[in-house]
Amino acid sequence: MTDRTADEIREHVRNSYASRVRPVLDAPEPIQLVSAGDACCGPDCCSTEAEATTLTMVAPATDACCDISSGDDCCGTASGTEENLTRVEALYKGTDTSDLASSITDVAFGCGNPTAIAALQPGQVVLDLGSGGGIDCFLAAKMVGDTGRVYGVDMTPEMIALARKNAGKVGATNVEFRLGEIEHLPVGDAAVDVIISNCVINLSPDKDQVFREAFRVLKPGGRLQVSDIVWTKPVPDEIKQDMDEWAGCIAGAMLESEYLGAIERAGFERISSDPSEYEGREGIASAAVVAYKPE
Ligand SMILES: C[S@@+](CC[C@H](N)C(=O)[O-])C[C@H]1O[C@@H](n2cnc3c(N)ncnc32)[C@H](O)[C@@H]1O
Repeated sequence: MTDRTADEIREHVRNSYASRVRPVLDAPEPIQLVSAGDACCGPDCCSTEAEATTLTMVAPATDACCDISSGDDCCGTASGTEENLTRVEALYKGTDTSDLASSITDVAFGCGNPTAIAALQPGQVVLDLGSGGGIDCFLAAKMVGDTGRVYGVDMTPEMIALARKNAGKVGATNVEFRLGEIEHLPVGDAAVDVIISNCVINLSPDKDQVFREAFRVLKPGGRLQVSDIVWTKPVPDEIKQDMDEWAGCIAGAMLESEYLGAIERAGFERISSDPSEYEGREGIASAAVVAYKPE
């Protein structure tokens, strides 16, 4: 374990994610321009604002500047990168993310796709630990529908601000984002059917406390379904001390067996894990973990 205090670790992690999300949060909304009478504006529709003199400007409804159905993504986004788009496409393969704004996909920092395997049902209450820009909350919101509810908790104020802005963009009315630490969840006892989380618990300096809190807020029979980074061999000492590796989801990650042991200590049963190689780094895996609170 590192010799930093829990507060120092959380502060470093918070600052790291705040600095990654700020450019997206502060980016001006893309201007949507279309040629008068033209359904799609063509490849150079958004090159300069000055072109607005010959183009019709329309209120932004989504991030795309053109008729999205034409597949012509001519503007790109203020902060989007091809690299991140490809990463999100790979991570969320088989899940329709086409209606998610770039201010959601650009800050998708997960290592799995928990909602793909969570088999969420209409009417369920879902909690996302470390919800970031909200990607998994918005996917879950579609699955639980109007009769369900999704809560996202994150300790980084900038993430919460962006997620709330994103909720407005996608028109999600059954999602709520709350500022807080996953070690001290701002959620009542036995209030949640399913907890999801994507690449977050490894960042906590006190995983036992996170799993105790998860247990507390789940209803009896409720399910914990998370994607997270785990080690499949002992973590090298020099990595454990590196705070940037911690914020990068590597140094704080536990051995898979210890991770599952912490879940069991919190009281969960029927615990299983399905690890797969993570970014080609030896000894590091992305694990899909499932556990249940006893009835
Ligand atoms: C790697 S990102 C993942 C975000 C999101 N789950 C996703 O898939 O895009 C980690 C997120 O967890 C949040 N986080 C890290 N440690 C936390 C803690 N102890 N309590 C609450 N949020 C935390 C960070 O602020 C950040 O938004």
